[in-house]
Amino acid sequence: MSLTIDRDRLMGEIEALALISEAEPPVVTRVVFTPSDLKARAWMRARCQEAGLSVREDAVGNTFGRWNGSDPSAPAVGTGSHIDAIPNAGKYDGVVGVLGGLEAIRALQQSGFRPRHSIELLIFTSEEPTRFGIGCLGSRLLSGTLSAASARKLSDNDSATLDEVRRKAGFAGELEQVKLPQGYYKAFVELHIEQGPLLERQRIPLGIVTKIAAPASLRVSIEGSGGHAGGVLMTDRRDALCAAAELVLAIENAARTSGAIDTVATVGICDVFPGAVNSIPSRVRLTVDIRDTDLQRRDLVMQMIEAACRSISAKREVSVHSELVNADAPADCAPTIIETLSQSCRKHELPFVPMVSRAYHDTLFMARLAPVAMLFIPCRNGYSHRPDEYASPEDIVRGTLVLAETLAALSK
Ligand code: GLV
Ligand code: MN
Ligand code: MN
Repeated sequence: MSLTIDRDRLMGEIEALALISEAEPPVVTRVVFTPSDLKARAWMRARCQEAGLSVREDAVGNTFGRWNGSDPSAPAVGTGSHIDAIPNAGKYDGVVGVLGGLEAIRALQQSGFRPRHSIELLIFTSEEPTRFGIGCLGSRLLSGTLSAASARKLSDNDSATLDEVRRKAGFAGELEQVKLPQGYYKAFVELHIEQGPLLERQRIPLGIVTKIAAPASLRVSIEGSGGHAGGVLMTDRRDALCAAAELVLAIENAARTSGAIDTVATVGICDVFPGAVNSIPSRVRLTVDIRDTDLQRRDLVMQMIEAACRSISAKREVSVHSELVNADAPADCAPTIIETLSQSCRKHELPFVPMVSRAYHDTLFMARLAPVAMLFIPCRNGYSHRPDEYASPEDIVRGTLVLAETLAALSK
């Protein structure tokens, strides 16, 4: 089988999708169920239909483009990723896996290959946590990691519930129907940019993921006492932002001193109330994102953060309340799919390294449903979640070729 990846078509599509955004180019902002997300979905459905795929959407908006195999009752082979993008993002996160997955399918179709197992392209809803505070909404529901009842409790910053927002966006039916049965997929493989610098530094074009790190997140709210920035003496203050500042540094320290470079912790949001120049902050809300490849070590860092919340609360006489948003286990990739990916790399004499995914991906949750693996390509300077994110056409084509061959081998 000889496969041709149409580089110009694929790169043209990546550029075209990037223009469907709430921000001016080169910035991509495409938050789930906003007009730009809905427009991007419609554009993707049209691309899938052009390729002859039958398109289905579930109640939360996960989109499936299916190329029927000769044995339609056999479990499908899945690939795909997400097209939602955090505010101020770039063009490649998620998109490479979706459009690369589509191009892989088209290359297989054009080669005359006929799969026995159907091949399904997935576009997951809300891999990014921007709107509803929790990432991988679509794959959590597909895999049953998040129950429909818990999903119904999610709401956005305007207090609109997920249920209202997704229905308004045109996705009907009950969230209970989203979960797929075990055995629905024979395998799932996701192509993605690395979102870190290791492949580029080592000058290696491909990384085969063996394990996905365990993510967790917390919302912390700190209540102190507000007042006049001139009138209240320093000794009388219970400043919520000063308490938050101590907590942010304690969180950094907990991750830095874990003994492993695989531990990371980030405070990405700090909302200060009332947010006036001459007013003492009375309330602060923080979000905390903690990840590690080792579950015990990640949980130990979380315990250290809880201890810091208690001691800062006592010392500064503020109330500190933390709410767990998610604490997920890591996932291992399947040795058989790792081997199939490796064989394709070897066939094309493409150097590759095994690696850990420090970012989370929908594959983390698909692992609860099926054997999974991921293929990484380099991105410039390791940049991601920023507008100057970049992956070269050569690397994208290489990743797509290896993905296509892997889908072929898995679907025979
Ligand atoms: C995914 O976007 C992540 O935050 O790892
Ligand atoms: Mn992302
Ligand atoms: Mn992503």
